[in-house]
Amino acid sequence: MVNTAIQQEQAHKVLSVNALIKSYGGADILKSVSVDMDEGDFLVLVGPSGCGKSTLLNCIAGLEEATGGQILIDGRDVTRVPPRDRDIAMVFQSYALYPTMTVAENIAFGMKIRKVPKEEQQRKTREVAQMLQIDHLLDRKPSQLSGGQRQRVAMGRALVREPVLFLFDEPLSNLDAKLRVEMRAEIHHLHKQTNASIVYVTHDQIEAMTLGTKIVVLRDGHIQQVGTPQQIYDEPANMFVANFMGTPPMNLLPARVELSDAGVLLEVCGPNGFTLVDSRATERLRDYQDKEVVVGLRPEALHPYREARHDHAIHLPVANVESSGSDTFVQLQAGEHRLNARLGGRSRVAEGEPLALAAEMDHVCYFDPQTELLIK
Ligand SMILES: Nc1ncnc2c1ncn2[C@@H]1O[C@H](COP(=O)(O)OP(=O)(O)OP(=O)(O)O)[C@@H](O)[C@H]1O
Ligand SMILES: [Mg+2]
Repeated sequence: MVNTAIQQEQAHKVLSVNALIKSYGGADILKSVSVDMDEGDFLVLVGPSGCGKSTLLNCIAGLEEATGGQILIDGRDVTRVPPRDRDIAMVFQSYALYPTMTVAENIAFGMKIRKVPKEEQQRKTREVAQMLQIDHLLDRKPSQLSGGQRQRVAMGRALVREPVLFLFDEPLSNLDAKLRVEMRAEIHHLHKQTNASIVYVTHDQIEAMTLGTKIVVLRDGHIQQVGTPQQIYDEPANMFVANFMGTPPMNLLPARVELSDAGVLLEVCGPNGFTLVDSRATERLRDYQDKEVVVGLRPEALHPYREARHDHAIHLPVANVESSGSDTFVQLQAGEHRLNARLGGRSRVAEGEPLALAAEMDHVCYFDPQTELLIK
């Protein structure tokens, strides 16, 4: 009975990567990576350049051979199966279209190779082109398209295949900022509409946060955390993840812990720093009495101090101010550290002057300074 339940659950996994190892020469690039996804999941792989995102995607696609471990697609072991038999479609960063073919021919090319009947080819091409809003461009050549339109053709080519799994490797990285935002919204919409299962590589954390139903953070061939965007943002498993997700990143500052009746008193950044009071962290920080922790405070958790509303102010000198129009990014000097705050666009803040801020304590994180792990 239990066995059947497990088998059934596995059958619904559209992708399972088990203890995957990939080495080039003697160097391990992926060091026992395990991850799985359900049908309809939008799995985003993020991490710094060189951490192994493309390598992992290429192993799933079969473009690279796994050195060890196992890859299942739709419950089938495909570890040694060639790419064309894996039931996947891939969209790369450089979405090479055939320059001499029209948009319609580009989209239909894979179906033609597979000898899909002509009528079905035309019907599917039209359907997908409508969905991607390129149906008016079907007779054009790629050279007559904008970057975003070409991108959509590349996606159309993948979509008509109706594979079990879509693999995207930084598909938006060649587009300008405005087009990226538009295409991001379109991919989001497309995923909602089709409920396709997608693995998506990016180093853009906004793409990761807005598109992903599940995010995998990779570092140096190791998985750091797997979670929903909210979990990754609010409860980063360690200081690396905390620092990686968010712009500006989470403030990670040393603090001394003192347990009191009011909760936990945190002496942050030494004598020239500031004090925080956390009434809800007593349980979490019980073992850290008189010891150091690392406080994780998001820049947007800091607000201008208002006497009537906040009972506790942070007073620090302003070291640097940058305004982006919509936001004012302020760096405050806290001992030898800098505290980043993200304030409203019309904040009047001057460099060199003191500023009073209040910290929203709802999502403050604490990390162990030795292990760098989140204290739960
Ligand atoms: N064919 C290869 N031979 C040897 N080393 C390789 C090969 N391909 C990739 N690597 C190395 O593997 C590591 C991971 O590369 P990968 O392309 O997966 O990184 P990535 O996370 O996709 O980075 P980026 O964000 O820059 O695209 C890098 O250190 C890279 O130099
Ligand atoms: Mg890459």
